Order: sequence, then C-alpha cells, then structure tokens
Amino acid sequence: MDKIVISGGKKLYGSISLSGAKNSALPIMAATLLSKEESIIENVPDLRDIQTMIKLLQALGAEVRFQRHTLFVKPAKDLCPKAPYDLVSTMRASVCVLGPLLARMGYGEVSMPGGCVIGARPIDLHLKGFEALGAEIKIRHGYVVARAKKRLKGGEIYLGGAFGSSVLATANVLMAAVLVRGKTTIHCAACEPEITDLAVYLRKMGAKIRGEGSPRIEIEGVSKLRGSRHRIISDRIEGGTYMAAAAMTGGDVLIRQIAPEYQTAMIDKLKQAGVLVDQTKSSIRIRRRKPLKPVDVTTLPYPGFATDLQAQMMALMSITPGISVISEKIYPDRFMHVSELNRMGAKIYLEGARAIVHGVKRLSGAPVMASDLRASAALVIAGLVAEGKTEVHRVYHLDRGYDRLENKLLSVGAEIGREKEEKQGSMNN
Ligand code: UD1
Repeated sequence: MDKIVISGGKKLYGSISLSGAKNSALPIMAATLLSKEESIIENVPDLRDIQTMIKLLQALGAEVRFQRHTLFVKPAKDLCPKAPYDLVSTMRASVCVLGPLLARMGYGEVSMPGGCVIGARPIDLHLKGFEALGAEIKIRHGYVVARAKKRLKGGEIYLGGAFGSSVLATANVLMAAVLVRGKTTIHCAACEPEITDLAVYLRKMGAKIRGEGSPRIEIEGVSKLRGSRHRIISDRIEGGTYMAAAAMTGGDVLIRQIAPEYQTAMIDKLKQAGVLVDQTKSSIRIRRRKPLKPVDVTTLPYPGFATDLQAQMMALMSITPGISVISEKIYPDRFMHVSELNRMGAKIYLEGARAIVHGVKRLSGAPVMASDLRASAALVIAGLVAEGKTEVHRVYHLDRGYDRLENKLLSVGAEIGREKEEKQGSMNN
C-alpha cells in the first residue's frame, strides 16, 4: 500500500486544472445502461471508483473501453440484472444501477450497501421512489430485489429525508422514471450540479425532463432511449479542495476548468476568512494578503456548503486565529479526521455534530491515517502547512476520488510524493 509524504512549509504558486466530477461520472455511467446503443462519455476522471463502476457495468453485460479519460459503453441487449456484493461493498454509488436495471429489465438485484465510516447511509428514499413507480421491493439475503410486475407507471414522489434530499436517490429515481409510462414528478429533489449533468445527458439520449437543478423535477416517460455523447462537468469538490489548499499555504494559485457558479458557498466562506478570490467564467484565483479570520460553516444540501468540503475547510480553520465552528447537517458523524488533525497539533473539540476549532499558530507534521476520501484530502492539505514531515497512510481512500492529486500539488510547488509503505500496520507499532 502507498503513503503520501509531504514536507510542509511551501507556498503554492501556479495553476491547476480540474478533472471531471466523480460524482457526476458515476451515475451517468449507470445511465448508459438505459439504452442498447453505445454512449461515449468524455472528461471521465481516472479513479478507483470509476474502475469499480467499469467492472460493475461489465458484470451487468456492457462492453466498456476507457481511453484517455473517455469511456465507450455498449450495453448488451439483455442485461444481467444482479450487482454483486464484492463490487457494491467497495462503492456505495453502485446502488444507482438499480434504477436503470429496473427501467430496462423490469428487474434488478443490488447488494444492500452497508454503513460506512462517515456514518449510517440508508437507501430508504431510493426504495420509496421505486415503489411510487409501481415496483415491488424485497430485501433477500443481503440484496435489494426490485421487480416491476407490469410496466412501471409515473407517479408523485417526495424524496425529502431527515437530512434533506438525497443526491443518489434523486439520480436513481430519475433514471428509472425516464423509461416508465406517463408523467413523474419528483418533489424535494436534490439540486446538486451532478443531478443537472445527469439530466442533460439523459435528455441527449431522448429523455423528457424539466426542472433539474430545482427541487421539482418533471419527467415524461418515453419507450426507448438512444446512446449519446456527453462531457462530464468539472469536479467542484476537487476544486474546493485546491481552493482550501491555496488559501492555507498563502501563495497565488489559479484553478482552471472550474465552474465558479457551483462554488458560491466555498467562495463566500473564503472571502469571509479574508482570502482574495478572483473569478472568471472558468477560473478562480486564490491569494492571501492578510491573516486568516475565523468563520462558521454549516454543511447543507446544494447550494449550501458541501459536506464533501467540510474536512478540508476544517484543516484551513485549524490554522486560522480565533474560534471557528463547523456544524455538520448531512452526516452528523463525519468527524473521523478530527483526531488525526489533533495529532498534527490542531485544537478541535467535538460537541455532537459540531466541531469547535481553536486556531493554532502552526501544525506539526506527523504520521496520520486517512479514514475516508475527503478526510484524506484534508490531512494532505494540512501537511502542506505543517512543520516538518507528514505521512498520510491508507491512501487508497484518496485514490478513490482524486485524479493525480500529488502530481497536481507538485506542479504548483508542494513538496509531496508517494512512497511504498515499508510494512503493513507500521502505524500501530
Ligand atoms: C452523494 C455523494 C457524496 C456526498 C453526498 C452528500 C455521490 C457518488 N456521492 O452521496 O459524496 O457526500 O451526496 O452531498 O454522488 N439518506 C437517507 N436515506 C436515503 C438516502 C440518503 O436518509 O435513502 C440520508 C443520508 O444518510 C445523508 C443524507 O440523506 O444523511 C444525504 O445523503 P445522500 O445525498 O443520499 O448522499 P449520497 O447520494 O449517497
């Protein structure tokens, strides 16, 4: 297994180009199954989660080629409707093949995804949506079995849960609804840009959809969809991660191929923190001239502050003089990075789903353990400003979701590299 090794203290200067959005690519890859024709998906990031989804599409009966960030997917006439445990258990987003399977085959079996380190992650809203379209749902031997006894029919579906709407439930139900008979309205739909991107692709396939990007999506079912070509939007979470990194080190970084309209919450918080943020239509420049100021952040569904940027923002706050408060409203347990940041000298206290961050003058490099994808990114960017050497272990988390992170940081002057672990479990010795 690899580890990332960082020598802190370098300011970042230069430009970084973003990759395509993982969270857009994964449901769109699932949506390719809705047609028997080939789809070509461009700007797909080269990540472990994408490789997992490729394996899943192949297991379901699609021919898939992935060349230079372009995916060619040709689904079989008859799909194998079972998504096996070994793939689903490594990536929750696998669950979003259920909508396409149900819509095309009238039947789908997907291993029930378990909880994960960021907390319980139920799929009740996905299932409620399928039931509203007329599917019968059963849980059998750890699998969700969804069956359409007759052709599915449009309906009124409310997707609000205890923590707001659900991104993948909206994607899943939308993908099923495009092929059912009649009209479907999704109320309290997720408004994330990745849902809009999915709707744009589905429309190119011939789907009839209105209202994506708002909490009310209307779909008029069609009987057949064609293959299509689509370019994935850039990754706003990757973008926010580099914005936080640049703000922390205090250099001058231009982030290219970014959509500033999807970064408004992050831009707002950075400006409040005293960071200089200049934007054009497709770039954001981050500089810092004055000391950072504390800010309070509450994670919320889009367009609120993204939970996927909470850990990176906490790393920034950890070296911001004064007290900042982070309230986590999407995943109340998503604080595994707190103890690791504290091992680097941060002073962060947890009070339920709130983190109270007392800014320290400096962090000190330490061996730390990545617990999940975004937590890993936070530890890496903390390492960029920490005194001495930081080693981030268990980087397979990072490889799930960041395309060439260390190369991109290296290109703007960070002292960062990837090394092989000397022996497994050395962190515990
Ligand atoms: C997606 C993102 C993930 C991000 C999350 C929230 C992908 C591949 N992943 O995950 O990176 O952190 O959105 O922005 O796009 N919930 C229920 N019942 C359900 C589904 C969800 O109660 O059936 C709850 C969840 O536990 C959570 C909240 O709703 O508290 C939001 O989760 P959701 O939007 O579903 O996250 P994902 O779509 O799985």
